[in-house]
Amino acid sequence: MYRSHTCGELRSSHINNEVTLSGWVQKTRDKGFVVWVDLRDRYGITQLVFDEERSDPKILEKARDLGREFVLQVKGTVIERTSKNPNLPTGDIEILVTQLHVLNESLLPPFTIEDKTDGGEDLRMKFRYLDIRRNPVKENLIFRSKVTLEVRNYLTKQGFIEVETPYLIKSTPEGARDFVVPSRMNEGQFYALPQSPQTFKQLLMVGGLDKYFQIVKCFRDEDLRADRQPEFTQIDCEMAFVEQDDILNAFEGLTRHLLAEIIGVETGEFPRLTYDEAMRRYGNDKPDIRFGMEFGELNEVAKNRDFNVFNSSELVVGIAVPGAASYTRKEIDQLIDWMRRPQIGAKGMVYVKYNEDGSFKSSVDKFYNQEDFTKWAKHTGAKPGDLICILSGNIAETRTQLSALRMEMAERLGLRNPKEFAPLWVVDFPLLELDEETGNYHAMHHPFTSPKPGQLELLDTDPAAVRANAYDLVLNGNEIGGGSIRIHDKDTQATMFRHLGFTPEKAKAQFGFLMDAFQYGAPPHGGIAFGLDRLVAILGGQETIRDFIAFPKNNSGRDVMIDAPAFIDDAQLKELHLKLDIQT
Ligand code: AMO
Repeated sequence: MYRSHTCGELRSSHINNEVTLSGWVQKTRDKGFVVWVDLRDRYGITQLVFDEERSDPKILEKARDLGREFVLQVKGTVIERTSKNPNLPTGDIEILVTQLHVLNESLLPPFTIEDKTDGGEDLRMKFRYLDIRRNPVKENLIFRSKVTLEVRNYLTKQGFIEVETPYLIKSTPEGARDFVVPSRMNEGQFYALPQSPQTFKQLLMVGGLDKYFQIVKCFRDEDLRADRQPEFTQIDCEMAFVEQDDILNAFEGLTRHLLAEIIGVETGEFPRLTYDEAMRRYGNDKPDIRFGMEFGELNEVAKNRDFNVFNSSELVVGIAVPGAASYTRKEIDQLIDWMRRPQIGAKGMVYVKYNEDGSFKSSVDKFYNQEDFTKWAKHTGAKPGDLICILSGNIAETRTQLSALRMEMAERLGLRNPKEFAPLWVVDFPLLELDEETGNYHAMHHPFTSPKPGQLELLDTDPAAVRANAYDLVLNGNEIGGGSIRIHDKDTQATMFRHLGFTPEKAKAQFGFLMDAFQYGAPPHGGIAFGLDRLVAILGGQETIRDFIAFPKNNSGRDVMIDAPAFIDDAQLKELHLKLDIQT
């Protein structure tokens, strides 16, 4: 038996018990006549003591030679500590060791295994197994397990059946590139790894399973960011005989349950904003509504004067930054420079200081008077002491830029409190999105999403105006889930493919199986998928999903620990009927 107790378990009630513990050496303190060793496992830390008076001299000598991260098994007696440590659950006791076995030695770790480590990101990823020994990483993984279990229990109780769908499939477009896998047995042919189980879950509805879920890996070859990994996990769900409201209610229930059970936060009914409204009020389809700074459109009160920059703009729009009227000229210039960086791309920014005494001072005093500024303040909701920041230009770009400023200012002002949770639904997304590069339309969500009733005809005349039965669940400025009511008849699906630029032959080759299934009594159906990594990170008060994934990839999509991706040898290439066109 390696252990009778864990390293987090022993209390003063165990004094005089004989115990066996196993774990890692966190640190040793050698005071000559006495050696203390902190022994660590997943559950905590227990102090071991060896001294000249009470310990076997051989064991004391052995204790002196222990290095960090050695793996030990010890037997001993639980005794009361002379100086107690109130910061440690086991801080009242220590173990007077009578037997010491070194189960394994350890090289000196390349970074300290402490809550605040000296290891940089790259080093920690290369030695991720050591990083996982650190409390913050370990606790994130335990937290993830807790959330996942809660999701499984909740959905199972609601009658959902967990079904596994295949990973070696044909492309399921979700807007990213596919990862592909060559087939040895089918020369020249490739599987695609699923960007999501979308088509399979729809087929499960045709199969009559009625309520499906799966906690499932998805694979997308896309540019990586803090909230994106090339392989990530979805809580993927689908229901038959449902309308949009049924889905929103069901998954609002799940989200509310998680917030209550995991965080202890009760939430009321989630607000629902249309996509158009979200864009107008926040310039963003995943608005963070924990704070105000809503957009105030100023076209009516700022155009048609002598200021040509505004006159020639499609949109003039501003936000009131609370308390920022006290910004110095230098601070405002720095903010303007920040907005001009290529990542944001604003050409400039007009500002109006709404002074505490009620007067205004602006960068456009030449063109506007105090009466104008009073109107601007009203439109942006500015109060004395605020700084009104105004951008202008074409609608889409200007909104995106002002949204970036809104988020940045909220961050600087500490308004993005990770302990506060503000979920909302964004509904009525456009069905199609124009690809600026090719001039073609593509599905904003995916090609299986249904248009709003009666809007199919609009596809021919005004495709951009067609709205979809599509919705996103947004939490604290992050899209944590998205879904739609699907098309469930062959003709509508064929029309959709045609508008997305598929020839009937191509549609049949790629999605014939789905169109065929629709001819055998496909029920009306719809669903949603949550990004589990994002959900867990945000519930955990963070936005970087990497910290909640045991073995994540870096920003170049590499696993630096196992060094993947990697070249494969010629024999394997040959077997797969592949020939590389590069020098390796
Ligand atoms: P969608 O593409 O919106 O929908 O994905 C659902 C959710 O998955 C998360 N997500 C990601 N998380 C981490 N890394 C990524 N690269 C990544 N990409 C997406 C997001 C997102 O909201 N089949 C549809 C769902 C449906 O229609 O039912 C789908 O996959 O949180």
